[in-house]
Amino acid sequence: MSYLHGFIPEEQQRLLDQGDFLAPKIYPRIDFSGCRNLLEIGSGVGAQTKMLLQLWPDLKITCVDYSEVQLAEARKNLAFAGDRVTFICQDARDLKLDEQFDALFICWALEHIPEPLKVLRQTKSYLKPGSKLWFTEVFNSSYYVFPDLPNQRKYYNAYNQHQISFGGNPDIGAQLGNLLHQAGFHSIEIFHGGFHLDQSKPEELQKMIGFWKILLKSGAPGLLEAGMLSIEEVQAMEEDLNFIASDENAVFFYQFVQTFATY
Ligand SMILES: C[S@@+](CC[C@H](N)C(=O)[O-])C[C@H]1O[C@@H](n2cnc3c(N)ncnc32)[C@H](O)[C@@H]1O
Repeated sequence: MSYLHGFIPEEQQRLLDQGDFLAPKIYPRIDFSGCRNLLEIGSGVGAQTKMLLQLWPDLKITCVDYSEVQLAEARKNLAFAGDRVTFICQDARDLKLDEQFDALFICWALEHIPEPLKVLRQTKSYLKPGSKLWFTEVFNSSYYVFPDLPNQRKYYNAYNQHQISFGGNPDIGAQLGNLLHQAGFHSIEIFHGGFHLDQSKPEELQKMIGFWKILLKSGAPGLLEAGMLSIEEVQAMEEDLNFIASDENAVFFYQFVQTFATY
C-alpha cells in the first residue's frame, strides 16, 4: 500500500483535527437531506463520518477504506453511533458491496486513488437512481503564497510529485467535473472553497499556516524514506512558512473543489 500520508497515530489524529478545522468550509454547501443510506469511500479514521452523522441524524453510513489500521481507529471514533455505521475494508477500485445506497460522499480520498474513473463507474452498481453525490478534493496547483520562499516551494513540489508517483493526482479537484461526466452522472455542479488570507486577518493567517505546516509534514516520513528530501529540507520548509507568517506582505491562497451530482 503506497500512500502519501501514512498510517501512524500522529497522522490519524491529524485527520481528526483537519476534519474539525475545515468543517466550516466544507459543510455549508453539502446537503444529504432526504437520504437514508450513504456510502463513504476512503473514510479514514471517520473524521468526516462523524460530521455527516451529526448533521443528518437519519443517515446510516457505510465506511469503505482499504486500510484496516484506519478502520480500527474509525471504529473507536464512531462508537457513539452504534449500528448507524458499518465498516468495510476494501480497495475502492474493486468494490463488492451487498447494499444499495442513495448517497455517495468522498472527501480527500480520490486524490490518492489511481484510476479514479474506475472507482466512480463501480459505485454506480451500488447507487439507486436519484442518488446524491458530494465530493470534496484538492486542487494543489491553486496554491499561491507570498513571499514564495524556495524551501517551502521545493518541499511542496516534492510532496505533490510523491503523490503522483503513487498514482494519485494532487490536482484531481480540477478534474472532478470531467470524471463525473465520463462516469455517467448527471446535474453536475462545481464549486470552489478555500482560503485567501493576509495580514489584514493575522490570526486566521497564522492558524492557516500552522495547519498547512502540519499537513505538509504528514508527507515527511514518506519523502524521507523515498530519499526525495533530507531532514534539513523538511526543517527549512517549516522555517520558510514561519517566516511567511510573520511577513508584513504575506498572502496565503488555496482553493479546493467541491462537486454535486446525481445518479
Ligand atoms: C487523506 S485520508 C482522508 C480520510 C477521510 N475522508 C477524511 O477526510 O478524514 C484518505 C483515505 O483514503 C484511503 N484510501 C486511499 N486509497 C484507497 C483505496 N484505493 N481504496 C480505499 N481507500 C483508500 C486511505 O487509507 C485514507 O484513509
